[in-house]
Amino acid sequence: MSSQTASLLVEETNQVNEQSNDIVEVTGIEKVYPGGTVALQGVDLAFPRGKMTTLLGPSGCGKTTLLKIIAGLLDATAGEVRINGKVVSGPGPERAFVFQDFALLPWATVVKNVAFGLEMQGVEKTLREKKAREYIIKVGLAGFEDNYPHELSGGMRQRVGLARALAVNADVLLMDEPFSAVDEQTRRLFQEELLRLLGMENKTVIFVTHSIEEAVYVSDQIVLLSPRPGRINRIVVPGIDRVGKTSDEIRRETGFLDTVEDIWDTLKKYLDDERMI
Ligand SMILES: Nc1ncnc2c1ncn2[C@@H]1O[C@H](COP(=O)(O)OP(=O)(O)OP(=O)(O)O)[C@@H](O)[C@H]1O
Ligand SMILES: [Mg+2]
Repeated sequence: MSSQTASLLVEETNQVNEQSNDIVEVTGIEKVYPGGTVALQGVDLAFPRGKMTTLLGPSGCGKTTLLKIIAGLLDATAGEVRINGKVVSGPGPERAFVFQDFALLPWATVVKNVAFGLEMQGVEKTLREKKAREYIIKVGLAGFEDNYPHELSGGMRQRVGLARALAVNADVLLMDEPFSAVDEQTRRLFQEELLRLLGMENKTVIFVTHSIEEAVYVSDQIVLLSPRPGRINRIVVPGIDRVGKTSDEIRRETGFLDTVEDIWDTLKKYLDDERMI
């Protein structure tokens, strides 16, 4: 190899490194719960800045566990999480979590619940409630500002959780089945809102869903996890080109439908394997 070719190669490698720009990196993550359940094993993943990564896999494969470890809410048994290149061991303002089970404060109104993340960041009351009200309108809950969680439906509670995560303006949003309790119409509206946010605010989203269709529609990359202990089986890049197309047109395209089918084939195998046991 000539020295010129060698230097070109080095240059190319450097460019790739610069471009990779992963905001969250997890390496060698293992989680063994007290009692001995091995939830995750040897998980290495990189989450590119400004992109949407979805974790998909059967119930119990460790998706929530992995999100909580990235959020710093749970310690890994082995391995590390880096945010912007720095190892983290607890929660931080650059990450916000939308919980699978809403995690709302039952004694606080919708406004107070939405403002809670900002309160934790020390934002002054008038400002945080103003911000909270803006996001309450964005998620379609105008008029319910002073209601309590027990007065809302499951889907409405989920919207409160979503508004709370959006209001804190964290760079990384960790979303655990955020749209599971809303109807299909609202779900699709939320998907569009999420894509809009990603496009405008350069957020990085780590998303969990059980819907293959939703995953293919919203994701830049989909990580398929195997049944417990969760390991990375495949990474699928849907590569959807949205320019000039409606959501319905995208969902009818052959490329979209083939990707859904391809992922279903992998997940179906897990079910078949389970039945064999
Ligand atoms: N606090 C805990 N103590 C002991 N075991 C736990 C705990 N939390 C989760 N597990 C176990 O770890 C495994 C992974 O759980 P996790 O909640 O991460 O799965 P999941 O992929 O999010 O599932 P789902 O799709 O049903 O939400 C499961 O076998 C579960 O029983
Ligand atoms: Mg879960």
